Amino acid sequence: MVNIAILGFGTVGSGVYEVLDVNRESITKKTGDEINVKYVLDLREFPGQPVEKVLVHDYDTIVNDSEVDIVVEAMGGTDPAYTYAKKALESGKNYCTSNKELVAKYGPELLELAKKNNKNFLFEASVGGGIPIIRPLNHSLTSDEILEITGILNGTTNFILTKMDREGLDFDTVLKEAQDLGYAERNPEADVEGYDACRKIAILSSLAFGENVNYEDIYTEGITKITDTDFKYAAAMNRSVKLLARCKREDDKFFAMVAPFMVGSEFPLYSVAGVLNGVLVKGNTVGDVMFYGSGAGKLPTASAVVSDVVEAAKHLNTNIMTIWSSKKLELGDKSEAVNSFFVRVGKASEATAKELFGDVEVCSAEGVEGEFAFITAAMKEKDFADKISKIADVKQVIRVQK
Ligand code: NDP
Ligand code: HSE
Repeated sequence: MVNIAILGFGTVGSGVYEVLDVNRESITKKTGDEINVKYVLDLREFPGQPVEKVLVHDYDTIVNDSEVDIVVEAMGGTDPAYTYAKKALESGKNYCTSNKELVAKYGPELLELAKKNNKNFLFEASVGGGIPIIRPLNHSLTSDEILEITGILNGTTNFILTKMDREGLDFDTVLKEAQDLGYAERNPEADVEGYDACRKIAILSSLAFGENVNYEDIYTEGITKITDTDFKYAAAMNRSVKLLARCKREDDKFFAMVAPFMVGSEFPLYSVAGVLNGVLVKGNTVGDVMFYGSGAGKLPTASAVVSDVVEAAKHLNTNIMTIWSSKKLELGDKSEAVNSFFVRVGKASEATAKELFGDVEVCSAEGVEGEFAFITAAMKEKDFADKISKIADVKQVIRVQK
């Protein structure tokens, strides 16, 4: 029997408990051993619920129990998750987590500690919820040099943007719905301001390029400034607005960014809607590979966590190699990145805009008047910033996926 302890019995933690219960038989077959939840740690009580029998409130009970083989963390945040992770690995336990904040900040250190102790630090659910993306990067795509990753990596914002686009609903109403469905972070600012997607692309780029991408170095914009008017223009152009997280290697330079983009219907991530996430990986020999599935939510996320539990149970005393060194990967300056931009300015600035940006694609949308909207040619971010600073009444700027 393999004993596990679950830290945090919220959306994900309770999902892990449920998946292990519902799929007990097949999981036992695939693991070659039964997985037993010996403890659940939470701050709350759960009177009358089955979990009550294994509920504890003191982490020492878990970490000092030599029968616990695997600790599963679904509490979120870095304090006390970081301390708990270190203690678990130092005590000879494997550690599986859905906590991207922890992974983005302490990934290389905890991987190193796991290696030193011949244990595993696994985090499949930390990016893309239920989508297998960490293991494919670590195992299936090892033949390739990864050139580029572009993802819709946040379920909450994709859910909000899709509802704004397709149902014309307002931002706050849809955010509340995403929170009720258990998609959003405890502080939803992490979702809507793009910080969550930023941590996730930092994790993916670190794994893809083998060195540590500091999430604080990644230029990040959220979706709070996207309006229904933007969606009217997008619809008229057969486009939509998506929060894209991307990283790219160009020769020996690396770029990463999180921002809303206008994407056309021919773009593979265009039809990734609602809470679904999609990750497009470009390798130098395999070409494009796309991963798609539920990016958040109780059972999909728990499914990814349990896949880590099974993996850890099959390698209780063998470290599975993960290439993510603590050496810092320097990112190229965002101002050198090349993009084209959808811009809305006041009608009075039409002539100035045409003069500054030259041959632009003029945009129109039904029912929108009194402004001038256009898409620029591809240009360096710094050149765009210089030109746009000369226009007084800029209403909107959204990058365009070409
Ligand atoms: P929840 O807030 O639903 O659950 C967290 C649980 O952990 C709560 O029950 C909380 O108790 C408990 N908890 C917090 N701190 C402690 C502590 N110090 N000791 C014991 N228990 C504690 O969060 P989620 O389940 O949604 O998310 C968990 C993690 O998974 C986060 O890192 C999140 O980013 C990540 N994640 C979430 C996904 C989702 O769809 N929800 C998808 C992918 C990843 P209390 O409520 O009393 O504070
Ligand atoms: N809040 C996150 C999201 C949870 O909406 O994508 C999954 O990581």
